[in-house]
Amino acid sequence: MTRYTGLIENYRDRLPLAPEARAISLGEGRTPLIKLENLTKQVGFDGELYVKFEGLNPTGSFKDRGMTVAVTQAVYEGAKAIICASTGNTSAAAAAYAVRAGVTAFVLIPDGKIALGKLAQAVVHGAVVIQIQGNFDDGMRLVKEIGETTPVAIVNSINPYRLQGQKTASFEIVEELGRAPDFHCLPVGNAGNISAHWIGYSEMAGVATAISPHHGDGRFLDRPLTTTRPRMVGYQAAGSAPFMRGGPVKDPETVATAIRIGDPQSWKLAWALQEESKGWFDECTDDDILATQKLLAASEGVFCEPASAASLCGALRDIKAGKIAPGSTVVCTLTGNGLKDPDIVMKDGLKSLIQVPAERGAVEKALLAHLK
Ligand code: F0G
Repeated sequence: MTRYTGLIENYRDRLPLAPEARAISLGEGRTPLIKLENLTKQVGFDGELYVKFEGLNPTGSFKDRGMTVAVTQAVYEGAKAIICASTGNTSAAAAAYAVRAGVTAFVLIPDGKIALGKLAQAVVHGAVVIQIQGNFDDGMRLVKEIGETTPVAIVNSINPYRLQGQKTASFEIVEELGRAPDFHCLPVGNAGNISAHWIGYSEMAGVATAISPHHGDGRFLDRPLTTTRPRMVGYQAAGSAPFMRGGPVKDPETVATAIRIGDPQSWKLAWALQEESKGWFDECTDDDILATQKLLAASEGVFCEPASAASLCGALRDIKAGKIAPGSTVVCTLTGNGLKDPDIVMKDGLKSLIQVPAERGAVEKALLAHLK
C-alpha cells in the first residue's frame, strides 16, 4: 500500500502541470461513490442511482479538486497571493490551500447570504475576507477587474487549472464503475463543475470535446477506459436559473446560497457540453431542494448542503417522469457537506428534540414511543 497524497500525484500524467511543480495538496479526491439502495427502492427505479459525495473533500466541497491544481500552478508561476469571489466554498478552499502554499488569500464574499461554516473556514485559515455590498456576480466582476492590474492569481473557475483539477471526479467514477454512467446530474451555478466533468469523461473516452481549454483529445491515455460518455444534466435553483431564462438573472435568490449566481462564468462551455452530451438544464424550487436534502439525510445517512441536493432533486423528478430512462446508471454529484450550513436544517429541527427529566422512566417512555 502506498499512502494516498492527493489527486495531483494520482493523476499527474493527465494534468497540464510542469513535472517539477510542487503539489500543494490536502489529500483531496477519492471521495466515495455511494449507491442509494433505499431511495432507489422507494421511488421504484430499476436502474442504479449513486451519489458522489464531494462534501468529503478536505474543506468539505468539490472546490478542493480545482484549488489544488490552481494553487499549485499559481505558486509555480511565482504568485504570492491568490484572489477569488465566492458564495462560500471557493473561499474556504482558497483560504486552506493558500495556507499550505504560504501565500495570501483574498476572498470577496457577498453581503450576507453565505453559510456560517464557510465563512468560519475562510476566517480560521487567515484569509483576508472582504465583504462587498453586492452579490456573487458583483464580486466576480470586481475580481476580474482587479486581476488585470494587481499581482494576484485569480482562482475562480475562469482559471482553466480549476477545471483541470475538477475533471478528476469523472476519472474516479469511471474507474469505480468500470464505465461511464448513462446520466450525470449536477447542481449548476457558474457551470464550471459540469464543464470540468465533461472534459474528464471525454478524456476517459478518448474523444475530443470543443470545450477543453487544454486537453480534450484523450491523448493522455494509451487506450480509452470507457466507450461511452454520459448525458450531462444541470439543475439550477428556480430563483437563480439563468440557463432556463436564456440569459443573466439580475437579482438571483435562493436558499441554496452556494448557487445564488445570476451570470454564470462558464456560460458558453455549458451550452456546448449540453449539446455534445445531449443533456439538458432544468430548475428546482427551494422547497423541493430542501425536501430532497432531508429525504437523503433521513433515508440514506448522507448529509449534503442545500445546493448539492439540487442534483438529486432534479434526478429523482426526471426518473419519475421517465426522462431518465428505466434501467439507467445515474450519478448525482453532492458538491458540498451539510455541516457547513446547519442553520437551515435546524430551523425546525429543534422542534424534534424530546425533553425529559433525567430519570430512567421518562427516558424509557420516550424510547417506547419511537420503537419501530
Ligand atoms: N454546489 C456547491 C456546494 C457550490 O459551492 C457551487 C459553487 C456549486 C454547486 C456550483 O458549481 O459554479 O461550478 O456550477 N460555488 C461557488 C463558490 C460559486 O464560490 O463556492 P459551479
